[in-house]
Amino acid sequence: MNTSVSIFAQVQADIQAVEDLMLAQTHEQHRDLQAALELIVKSGGKRIRPTISLLIGQMLNAPHEKLITIAAAIELLHTATLIHDDLIDGSLLRRGMPTLNSQWSPGSTVLTGDFIFARAAKLAADSDSIPVMKIFSQTLSTIVNGEITQLFSARCQVDRESYYRRIYSKTASLFEISAWSPALISPADETTIDAMRKFGYNIGMAFQIIDDILDFTGDQETIGKPVGNDLRQGLVTLPTLYYIEDHPEEPDILKLSQGNCPDFERVDHLVNQIRTSEAIRKAHQEACQYAERALGYLQTQTDCSERRSLENLANFIVDRDL
Ligand code: IPE
Ligand code: IPE
Ligand code: MG
Ligand code: MG
Repeated sequence: MNTSVSIFAQVQADIQAVEDLMLAQTHEQHRDLQAALELIVKSGGKRIRPTISLLIGQMLNAPHEKLITIAAAIELLHTATLIHDDLIDGSLLRRGMPTLNSQWSPGSTVLTGDFIFARAAKLAADSDSIPVMKIFSQTLSTIVNGEITQLFSARCQVDRESYYRRIYSKTASLFEISAWSPALISPADETTIDAMRKFGYNIGMAFQIIDDILDFTGDQETIGKPVGNDLRQGLVTLPTLYYIEDHPEEPDILKLSQGNCPDFERVDHLVNQIRTSEAIRKAHQEACQYAERALGYLQTQTDCSERRSLENLANFIVDRDL
């Protein structure tokens, strides 16, 4: 059986409950806002973050209703960050559909994102868990700080440490709470809670590295969003960092290493060079190392179907082409 199908099948009924709860947050608002929200919630997405929360929550016997609430809060937070991210990046396509910012003014797009953030926060509060509320708001500020850092000071910045900080902030932090918060509302002990948090952190890092690889190698039809954009926007990601290490003498690379973005007409050439280089394999290998570390943290749990699905999920994240 296709691995990704079997992982998601295990939580399908609960994912439906999560989506229903997300949809319920859109009701009784201004007509246009409600229509836009419904469209966004129904546009799908892989639902990876709630799947992680549900599998860990089930594995650790978290109370069911609270688990659904937390999973919905996290996926709504993710949805809101995508709306703002696409506006910031000027992206016109998401999940194979036109983005909100391609159809609405920046003002109404920002407000729609804000509305979803507010609803996500309300659901986090409905968990009745103060620790969950605290890490939820902390994560939101981490993500925003990461996006601001990327916007203001990451253009053509060739610095591995800042790359890891950036991908933690914008992506792995949310994976971390997707795995951590279900453990927090469960009867699990401190060691398990900490192991789940680290599992989430490590698959989150792997996830963003693969996203950065797919920006070079991906197929727009399959991933449902534009490709080749990162470097065009001056964003130096792991494949580029490896390419710079391997080809320090190339004129475009020399410029980049000095913090100067490549000329507009050179970027496509450079994207092509990187796409077909060893740098892709090296970046992929590094994503696999993060996934391996994540798998190590699952070993703390006794064998069960949820643990096996989480293992499959970690493998799916590094093998995916979408
Ligand atoms: C996209 O996340 C944003 C990143 C962190 C790279 P996903 O790839 O999980 O997006 P959807 O929800 O499946 O559309
Ligand atoms: C997005 O990172 C992370 C957040 C939404 C905070 P990217 O900019 O790489 O995501 P995509 O590639 O647009 O999905
Ligand atoms: Mg983006
Ligand atoms: Mg990306």
